[in-house]
Amino acid sequence: EVLEVGVFNRSETPPFELADKIDTREEVRLQYRYLDLRRAPLQKALRTRHVINQATRNYLSDQGCTEVETPFLVKYTPGGARNFLVPSRIHHGKFYALAESPQLFKQLLMVAGFERYFQIVRCFRDEDSRLDRQPEFTQIDIEMSFVNQDDVFGLVEGLVCAIWKAALGVDLTKQYPGGVFPRMKFEDSMRDYGNDKPDLRFGMKHFDLTELVVEHGGGGVPFWEPLAQKFRSGEYRRDLPAEIVKAMVVPASGNLSRKDGDELEKLAKSMGAGGLARAKVAADGTWTQTPLNKMMTPELRDAITRAVGAQEGDLILFQSGKAQLVHTVMANLRVFLGKKLGYIPEVGHGGEWNFLWVVEPPLFEYDDENKRWAAAHHAFTRPHDDSVDLIDKDPGKVLCYRYDLVLNGFEIAGGSIRLHDPVVQQKVFRALGIGEEEARQKFGFLLDALKLGAPPHGGIALGMDRLVMLLTERESLRDV
Ligand code: AMO
Repeated sequence: EVLEVGVFNRSETPPFELADKIDTREEVRLQYRYLDLRRAPLQKALRTRHVINQATRNYLSDQGCTEVETPFLVKYTPGGARNFLVPSRIHHGKFYALAESPQLFKQLLMVAGFERYFQIVRCFRDEDSRLDRQPEFTQIDIEMSFVNQDDVFGLVEGLVCAIWKAALGVDLTKQYPGGVFPRMKFEDSMRDYGNDKPDLRFGMKHFDLTELVVEHGGGGVPFWEPLAQKFRSGEYRRDLPAEIVKAMVVPASGNLSRKDGDELEKLAKSMGAGGLARAKVAADGTWTQTPLNKMMTPELRDAITRAVGAQEGDLILFQSGKAQLVHTVMANLRVFLGKKLGYIPEVGHGGEWNFLWVVEPPLFEYDDENKRWAAAHHAFTRPHDDSVDLIDKDPGKVLCYRYDLVLNGFEIAGGSIRLHDPVVQQKVFRALGIGEEEARQKFGFLLDALKLGAPPHGGIALGMDRLVMLLTERESLRDV
């Protein structure tokens, strides 16, 4: 019931319509951010973010965590993400670094006796922006003493359930009894999906054909023969930086035309692939629409059809070469096809929340460029106890307590149990070729702290912006 009408201020005609759906260029939307934010979807995004903040503080406080703020202006340490630098006025010619995360500080807090810590904290990394990546972003950062991996998972699962309840009224325990999320080994994830953040809302698994191709001596395919020559059957090792052959089946129901195939090849090439071999399976099991026909032995062809379980009309896609590139190309193709064939929506959850812990990754990664082992994450991740002996013998086989939480194909959290044992620490440094002096220079104050009664500890950080983006079904972090 209107009692009185007055004009407080007059507005010019705004540069774009303040409707829910607009196709205004993002640059214009960002220039008039305050107008863009008046639109209902962005109002909802920021209000949801507020709710998540509240739910997080309440839940973690109830769990006995103390919120502690840590410095942003820090000492520069090489390695890790690229830092932003801030010149100091007083110390002429010297710079602060902006903290890429509170990692070192939260570990020091454990040594300081704050058994359970959390912080909703801004992080700064000088990296390229993407839809799900920004140079400045927010983490829900957590660290705890006297915990193992299961303890960290339990706390985070409870937090995620509390957030979903508060933000959407969704009870995740209906889908995940006891609020426990499934787990997958890193190695299985790489093999089946090509990355460590698989979107499990749809199938289309990858098939690793490397061993099969080796077994068949390349099967007459010229670009597979060098790979087959490098290994003899049974000698192939997945953990080495090797070349691999992978395939993926697009079901006949996908009805992909030749033109669609060409479009996929173009996409593969844009990611650095040399091409995208493909073959359609005919009723009699032979292959059509493929130059592979002319080269491949019928034995290998039939073995592959069987291995990938392809039926009449299915399209098999192949990718071979350096493992990392093959995985990446095939992983991206899988997601692209998932959207194209309508298995998952272009943006948003489509009513499905698919959580997954990816566990047991290798501690070391071979640095092909510099021909040495490097820390896959950082040098302070705790190896599995039964892996410790392998650190000097066979670094590629050392597994560790690092973990990522994945939601619908996005990494929403990552962390690890830390290495607090100086003897094992020395071994890891040795494997990485880090001498005592270099270790001191790089991690001096953490090493000192770890010598002064550090409890076993571990933690994790959730990407707040990604959470909000996924919960509000926005396409980009910029909207939230
Ligand atoms: P990590 O680097 O994996 O771990 O980051 C944790 C989570 O933060 C989010 N994230 C980002 N979100 C937006 N833009 C970015 N540039 C960006 N980078 C990371 C992701 C990611 O899962 N200190 C460790 C955590 C730990 O070990 O406890 C860390 O920062 O969702």
